[in-house]
Amino acid sequence: MTEKDFSSVSYTTLKDEGEVAYSSPSNIALVKYWGKRENQIPANPSISFTLAACATKTKVHYKKRENNNGKFSFDFLFEGEEKEGFKPKIITFLKRIEVYLPFLKDYHFVINTSNTFPHSSGIASSASGMSALALCFMEMERSFVENMTAEFFNRKVSFLSRLGSGSACRSIEGPLVQWGESKVIEGSSNLFGIKYPYDVHPIFNNYHDTILLVDKGEKQVSSTVGHELMHGHPYAVNRFAQADINLDKLKTVFSNGNLEDFISIVESEALTLHAMMMTSSPYFILMKPNTLTIINSIWKFREHSKTHICFTLDAGANVHVLYPEGEKDVVFPFIKEKLVPFCQNGQYICDRIGLGAKKL
Ligand code: DP6
Repeated sequence: MTEKDFSSVSYTTLKDEGEVAYSSPSNIALVKYWGKRENQIPANPSISFTLAACATKTKVHYKKRENNNGKFSFDFLFEGEEKEGFKPKIITFLKRIEVYLPFLKDYHFVINTSNTFPHSSGIASSASGMSALALCFMEMERSFVENMTAEFFNRKVSFLSRLGSGSACRSIEGPLVQWGESKVIEGSSNLFGIKYPYDVHPIFNNYHDTILLVDKGEKQVSSTVGHELMHGHPYAVNRFAQADINLDKLKTVFSNGNLEDFISIVESEALTLHAMMMTSSPYFILMKPNTLTIINSIWKFREHSKTHICFTLDAGANVHVLYPEGEKDVVFPFIKEKLVPFCQNGQYICDRIGLGAKKL
């Protein structure tokens, strides 16, 4: 598929007014997307667990405008309150997707959105937020045409979400989504995420992600700035090649369920992401002392408990603690007793692998 396939939809009817609503989850990358080219094309392939609990709920009311003045028209409410500050990001998004959804300027939108996770928890809301909005617009488009296939809907909504935020294209489906061209994943694309197309070992069913909120402050480096730091980065070429290799290795792991290998790939990816930030110019340390304390504690506990607890990180100080369903009775009490004290205000979120976005 090419970009063109997403701009050539012809409409049978354009409704005057209506409402659509979606809940779209966040996701946690196992092989990280870090570095991109123009038009949100990733520098390397990535793969993520779709989450179940952390999600954005978005409701869009649309009404035909009398006359379109060449500008987008919308109100934006976050948790019931108008938020002017969020508008520029949405306008950028609308501008990028307009060519694929040519009706956008013909309507006035009231966008109502809320997150299931605490505001400014340091949890990336761009993946769930952008995908939830893209889903609402795509649902409109679906109602303007006859017989849109589910595959086309999912691909186009992932494609549009990507234009809002790269990682958002991995939030539509679940439990595992892959994005970015890769020789080892059939059907993979730089343009949209696809549901992982091979069988996955049952050890990954219901896999847990307990998110430890170590630092809820504003992100020190936005992902946009972070991705830019990979341009001319001394280790970029090797890093991008390593992501390809790690994706191939994970493919084997997903088929044979070898959790030792899973752990070494996933933890190495997390630390490599941070290593890229520590070695860029300018450089950043996004981990906090408590991030390191938690990582060391996970390693010690893993050794003596013989469980398969491991961690991954986003571009921040919070720690995602991953473990299989069958080990939760041993692992979760450890997390609560030994790791939660290192969270800001003792805050954490119990999440697990999920199945993707839901129409409300
Ligand atoms: C570290 O998707 O937030 O979470 O495309 O600029 O919006 P933009 O970046 P974004 O980057 C996410 C980076 C990451 C790794 C990942 O999710 O793969």
